[in-house]
Amino acid sequence: MCGIVAYIGGRTAEPLLIEGLKRLEYRGYDSAGIATIEGGALRVARSVGRVSELEERLHEAGGFAGSLGIAHTRWATHGGVNEANCHPHRDDRNGIAMVHNGIIENYASLRTYLEEKGHTFSSETDTEVLAMLIGELYEDDLERAVKAALREVTGAYAIAVICEKEPGTLVVARKGSPLMVGVGNGEYVVASDASAIVAHTSQAFPLADYNVVRITREGFRTSTIDDTPVTPKISQLELDLEQIEIGTFSHFMQKEIFEQPKVLATTLRGRIDRNEGRVVLGGLANFSKELVKARRFILTAQGTALHSAMIGEYLLEDLAKISAEVEFGSEFRYRNPIIEENTVVVGVSQSGETADTLSAVIEAKDRGALALGVVNVVGSTMARETDAGVYLRVGPEIGVASTKAFTGQVMVLTMLALYMARRRFMSPDVCARCLTQLEAVPDKIARALETNDRVRQVTERYVDRDNWLFLGRGYNYPTALEGALKLKEISYIHAEGMPAAEMKHGPIALIDDGMPAVFIANQGRQYEKVMSNIAEVRSRGGHVIAVATEGDTEIAKVAEEVLYIPECEEFLSPMLAVVPLQLMAYHAAVLRGHDVDKPRNLAKSVTVE
Ligand code: AGP
Ligand code: GLU
Repeated sequence: MCGIVAYIGGRTAEPLLIEGLKRLEYRGYDSAGIATIEGGALRVARSVGRVSELEERLHEAGGFAGSLGIAHTRWATHGGVNEANCHPHRDDRNGIAMVHNGIIENYASLRTYLEEKGHTFSSETDTEVLAMLIGELYEDDLERAVKAALREVTGAYAIAVICEKEPGTLVVARKGSPLMVGVGNGEYVVASDASAIVAHTSQAFPLADYNVVRITREGFRTSTIDDTPVTPKISQLELDLEQIEIGTFSHFMQKEIFEQPKVLATTLRGRIDRNEGRVVLGGLANFSKELVKARRFILTAQGTALHSAMIGEYLLEDLAKISAEVEFGSEFRYRNPIIEENTVVVGVSQSGETADTLSAVIEAKDRGALALGVVNVVGSTMARETDAGVYLRVGPEIGVASTKAFTGQVMVLTMLALYMARRRFMSPDVCARCLTQLEAVPDKIARALETNDRVRQVTERYVDRDNWLFLGRGYNYPTALEGALKLKEISYIHAEGMPAAEMKHGPIALIDDGMPAVFIANQGRQYEKVMSNIAEVRSRGGHVIAVATEGDTEIAKVAEEVLYIPECEEFLSPMLAVVPLQLMAYHAAVLRGHDVDKPRNLAKSVTVE
């Protein structure tokens, strides 16, 4: 959600800032704005809607000069989506402009205080309150005023601040919302993530919570809001432009669905030792002894990551014979969770920035759990806050609807379960056999993708239906949830996922003539039970779309449509069964004419509660 780009250097800021905002569009937003300083004069432009509409405003205004600037894509939390609430927000005395990602929780009391001081506000946002507070505390040093203001606020922020009176200074700060500084040659690009930096430099560092960076054209200084000096670690960005370009595909989601075979091979690379029959996870090396003693795993996540975590629960119990449970991060963080000795908490998160998941992991860690991260974005907050972890290595996921990150998470959680099993009791031979089957998954996903045209045909037949069911059992109950979420979030069709057996306990009342019911009915321990559930739907007029194992001719006798996937061991089946469901959601969104990569109301990374 939302995004920040800021620039100070020798080049004109405007085009760089607009290009940076476009790189961040995938994060989800509802409006945009920019401010630059040229010759001691602050210029601000803002617009509701897409970055292209802001670009139009700038063109009409003849463009903004100046080599210092800030820019923002907003995902509204406080105040409606209108121009008055767009960022940048200003103070009313010193020519200060500021952009902000996050929530200032005590903004109301601060606003009352500032109104009593004679300040008048022009928006409903919490951000304007912070801008006005900085202005109120400003004397002659922007960094000092920013620090003084941040010591007064509670909540989450990533901010970039400029001031007419200091045309050579950019101040940025962060707590709870991601922000990183790209270090160029005599110039600096600050952004919410690397995708807006990598075109300008490959050297960057993330801000840690409570960090403030004062940047001039001559250099930068990092410290805490209490003025404690900080030495950031500048590292090489692992991202390249090709990874964030759409290539020959129509949408990033389509690209990411079809690159799963390639990127999952990367997820596996160097982590499978078939000769020794073991998994090699370097990120866990320092904690292998603690992990062997682990008696309970708590996996916590939101959304799609929660669905992969649910599969992780089955994998840990089934393969490693270890107690595991899954928790919504948003729920876990506010309960009074019981964390016994030898408990491991696993935060599963593509972005590594999801506020609820992060807080849940930190809560468990503070209560004594060993904290692991299963994360895609290198250097993300989750990667830094956990004791250890395993990166997905599926490359940047730009489409808001998560696809390759889901299969990457399941792949990593499968390796984690085998890693634990092997260290607890599993023989090298048994583990080697599991690993051989695991290594065959990318090729089998490639074969599943060959049904793309068939999936589109089936989707065309039902795309006008407004209510769908997704049903599965065992390992594929979470896959059914994921299929329903995919369809919901990009086609806006209402869909509900559930355990196939649960349908009889109420939802079966929904079944009416022609209602699509997607069953994951691949060969497995509960195949016959699924077949019974299929019969229950058909007997009430429902239309069954079955995801089934290649060669299964029985299913074709009872299902209106069959989407075949290659044969595989049951514990590997979610990574295959999800493929037709991803394609189905994609085609439904395209057929319904929706913005596949930037679905309404959604954000790629939910960095607020
Ligand atoms: C998935 O398609 C959604 N975009 C959303 O549910 C996402 O999975 C969730 O917000 C968690 O994000 P994370 O993996 O970055 O933590
Ligand atoms: N809370 C601020 C607002 O509603 C910032 C939202 C965002 O992160 O974009 O404007």
